[in-house]
Amino acid sequence: MVSVHSAVSVIAAKRDGRELDDEQIDWVIDGFTRGVVADEQMSALAMAIFWRGMTRRELARWTRAMIESGQRMNFTDLPRPTVDKHSTGGVGDKITLPLAPLVAACGAAVPQLSGRGLGHTGGTLDKLESIPGWRATVTVPQMRQMLSDPKVGAVVCAAGADLAPADKRLYALRDVTGTVESIPLIASSIMSKKIAEGTAALVLDVKVGAGAFMKNIDAARELATAMVELGADAGVRTVALLTAMDTPLGRTAGNALEVAESVEVLAGGGPADVVELTVALAREMLAQAGIHDADPAAALADGRAMDHWRAMIAAQGGDPAARLPRAKHTEVLEAERSGTMTRLDAMGVGLAAWRLGAGRARQGDPVQFGAGVEMHAKPGDPITAGQPLLTLHTNTPEAIPGAVEALRGAYEIGADPVTVPPIVLDRIAP
Ligand code: URA
Repeated sequence: MVSVHSAVSVIAAKRDGRELDDEQIDWVIDGFTRGVVADEQMSALAMAIFWRGMTRRELARWTRAMIESGQRMNFTDLPRPTVDKHSTGGVGDKITLPLAPLVAACGAAVPQLSGRGLGHTGGTLDKLESIPGWRATVTVPQMRQMLSDPKVGAVVCAAGADLAPADKRLYALRDVTGTVESIPLIASSIMSKKIAEGTAALVLDVKVGAGAFMKNIDAARELATAMVELGADAGVRTVALLTAMDTPLGRTAGNALEVAESVEVLAGGGPADVVELTVALAREMLAQAGIHDADPAAALADGRAMDHWRAMIAAQGGDPAARLPRAKHTEVLEAERSGTMTRLDAMGVGLAAWRLGAGRARQGDPVQFGAGVEMHAKPGDPITAGQPLLTLHTNTPEAIPGAVEALRGAYEIGADPVTVPPIVLDRIAP
């Protein structure tokens, strides 16, 4: 059958501000997945969407077409309710590591398909791969087995090639055509993967601030609302927390450094902001899963979450007791003066960690597991001149000047005490 559509007519319609109908959307996503719509045509359409936006109806149909470009998993037959969390990405954001086993310890099943880092934000899979033996690739039957096992209950793994393949191709194009920062394109990209993953409920952690995609709260609220609506339209119970990302989370940014910090949290310690956000997200996830009688703070404190962490790592070939990789070189940056730390910029720290080798410049590049930045002070902490502020870790000492440059102006020490703003800024529910 000869199609009544052409890529040019769809691009021109969106360019001129017209609403695309269901047939046009289904045709263009299907054509792009099959290679009938060329990369340059999809890039032009992405730019038209960037400028013109999408209506709620267009966005719901676009997301549905992206899901239908591949397989949709189904975990409705599991003995426990499924719930997942997705973060829009930040610096030092290791929350998935303690959160997934914690929520599993409280009775839910957590099927989490995660990504690798690109640019200044880290990726959960890169962090977990720093654990000797741990593998990101898991088959669907293995996933099902881990989720059904009451001792495990959580799986964090790489998405297979058949999960929303249209998104994989489109994201790669957006990355090189200046069209990543479009609210409908981000919302449909994230939600197509999360809905296809087969979770019944979802909690979104939408980051706001200097180290996030969304630099201000209004844009974050718009993105969160679009994603919550998409979840509701697809029958996935979804809520979003808007959380602060001006300052890195916790005291480490970098793969193995963040795993070590997550293990501290699972052992009942760790930085207060990481614990606070982990428990807040766990409460939301358990409520969405219909589990109202569990206390996640208690499950962290009494070691139940740690037991699930060990079982989850071992089920994917990892040795939870193994020594984590450490970088060969360290460099300590000291405070030039006394006072109070008033600012520690997430973007500067993320960029420094990336330059030290914790992140990658291109997809497929290797990362240094031991590389990153350790933060000895955070905003609000008193500082004494000469004390260590930041330790840089790397195997490539020639990277240190670039990291120091990224950190220039990224922190401030003032004379007066400061009030540290809350981590959870808002909550968006359907
Ligand atoms: N993460 C995604 O998966 N997609 C986006 O578009 C942005 C962040």
